[in-house]
Amino acid sequence: MIKEYDYDLSAHNTFRMKVKCACYIKYDSIEELESLPWDELPKPIKHIGEGSNLLFTKDFPGTVLHSAIRHVKYVDLGLDEVPVIAGAGVKWDALAAELCGHGLWGAENLSLIPGEVGAAAVQNIGAYGVEFKDIVKGVTCYDLLERRRCKFTVEQCGYGYRESMFKEADGRYIVTSVLLRLSRVPRPRLEYKGLADIDASSPMAVRQAVIDIRRSKLPDPEDIGSAGSFFKNPVISAVDFLRVVEAAGTDKVPHYVLDGGMIKVPAAWLIDSCGLKGETEGGAAVYDKQPLVIINASGSATPSDILELERRVVATVHARYGITLHPEVEHI
Ligand code: EPU
Repeated sequence: MIKEYDYDLSAHNTFRMKVKCACYIKYDSIEELESLPWDELPKPIKHIGEGSNLLFTKDFPGTVLHSAIRHVKYVDLGLDEVPVIAGAGVKWDALAAELCGHGLWGAENLSLIPGEVGAAAVQNIGAYGVEFKDIVKGVTCYDLLERRRCKFTVEQCGYGYRESMFKEADGRYIVTSVLLRLSRVPRPRLEYKGLADIDASSPMAVRQAVIDIRRSKLPDPEDIGSAGSFFKNPVISAVDFLRVVEAAGTDKVPHYVLDGGMIKVPAAWLIDSCGLKGETEGGAAVYDKQPLVIINASGSATPSDILELERRVVATVHARYGITLHPEVEHI
């Protein structure tokens, strides 16, 4: 276990904000987590993963917890379905690579998403037509309120588009491990337009295609600080969509009709069509290859640069289309 006070979080958030927390604890097992002196820890308590989907808006006065529970177990009994248990601190993409390498289907479309397994379960990470909820069967947690271990089925996790019961519970449940269900039987999911013509002969081949698409659109986390998509894609009514079409002055507004008749419009398109690609504020910028992403362009952007750029993007899109963009990135 590592426990530090007045700790610099720069290496724990992919936006690379230079912020501190009063206390930082990295624990290696559920037993260590359970035995923390909860009443004495600086409050509030915030659990993070790799810090790839959050923005610290200032120094954090409480305790930041981080899991190093890193076991991965699976038994291949020759059945079509292979159950996999993974600790919350396992790097998601390392697990995805391992599963694809074993010829197991399910994780390939979620390749190269930064972050750790625990955060993947909280956020319901998604890309290229697949969400975490499609491969998870159950989630094991530590309940901070009742101070005991508990388990949830996937139905109990309340998953939606980047939503879950864990997010709603606002930190009450700390994910310790997940149970996934992978498939031996080929199950390529190629509905996303960029995947239509790829080699889908193995999970590894699909993984490689997904990696190529991500590398062409999204900033390389090694080079440029960001937290991936900064905004959610808005889901709007048909009437609001008509207003967008009218304001855009074209019928060619990209959109996806969802079950139930609501319409998802790419926030990237809304931002792009407002001419905001490459827009800057201090050291922060709207990424020019994928305007859904805000980047720490200078390497020394401050939280207020990012917040001001966010405010401007939201205001500009709202003024033109009457649609309010909501951040996907958690603000702390
Ligand atoms: N677009 C533009 N201009 C651009 C780029 C994109 O107009 O410069 C429009 C195009 O119409 C394009 C559409 O945006 O077809 C959608 O773009 P893309 O397929 O790249 O996906 P996205 O909707 O922008 C979402 C996720 C990504 C995920 C991709 C692929 C959210 C908030 N983001 O982005 O997730 O990788 O789909 O499935 O849902 C993340 O969460 O951090 C993330 C990267």
